[in-house]
Amino acid sequence: MPKLIKSQDPDALAADMIAEFIQQKPDAVLGLATGSTPIGIYKKLIEKNLDFSQVRTFNLDEYVGLSQSHPQSYYHFMQENLFKHTNIKKENINFLNGLVSDIQKETARYEDLMRQTPIDIQLLGIGTNGHIAFNEPGSPQDSTSRKIVLSQQTIKDNSRFFSPGEKQPEEALSMGIQSIMAAKQIILIAKGQNKTKAIHTALYGPSTTDCPASFLQNHRNCIFILDPHVDI
Ligand code: GLP
Repeated sequence: MPKLIKSQDPDALAADMIAEFIQQKPDAVLGLATGSTPIGIYKKLIEKNLDFSQVRTFNLDEYVGLSQSHPQSYYHFMQENLFKHTNIKKENINFLNGLVSDIQKETARYEDLMRQTPIDIQLLGIGTNGHIAFNEPGSPQDSTSRKIVLSQQTIKDNSRFFSPGEKQPEEALSMGIQSIMAAKQIILIAKGQNKTKAIHTALYGPSTTDCPASFLQNHRNCIFILDPHVDI
């Protein structure tokens, strides 16, 4: 079962854990997430002036059809919110490419890389429907990286990042549940009252495809860090 920590400041706690890890293992392999939740963690990591010269990263997901330079791409998000403020090497940043025509080949490439370079710490947020990365309800526990059609709930939740009239992608490439579960340690962060139901189901519901985050119950080293607004 995941360890549950309620914290007044989940950003500081998660950033401290990651920073300590990088100090112990300078070539740490980090699994990184996007969305509004990890932004504060990235800010705190930047403030710590860590040496990222040997750190390697894998991001969870990317929108289909957006180039890395597109302002709404998750690659661009990571550049703006973390990478460009550190000394991470470009060749150590791993991302799924949402522009490829051969998705099979692209997802196999990513899975191979993660097998060769296993993730030490995977940071996760959670969708209001219990998704992790873009693994929507219905995603099986043995799923690996693949193309996913986003649920209407996720499209609605993420519409706040797009301006009116701007085309919002409805598909993404995402690590699967199995890819995420292969990380040695998982830190899931949830902030806000609107995450209460998803967290409750993930922790106390059955471990099923209805709530993909509930598969984390089966991980040996998983921590949920919740802010006081998550009503658990
Ligand atoms: C997106 C991402 C997820 C993230 C979720 C929650 O769908 N693919 O990785 O956990 O949003 O986002 P937020 O942190 O903005 O609530």
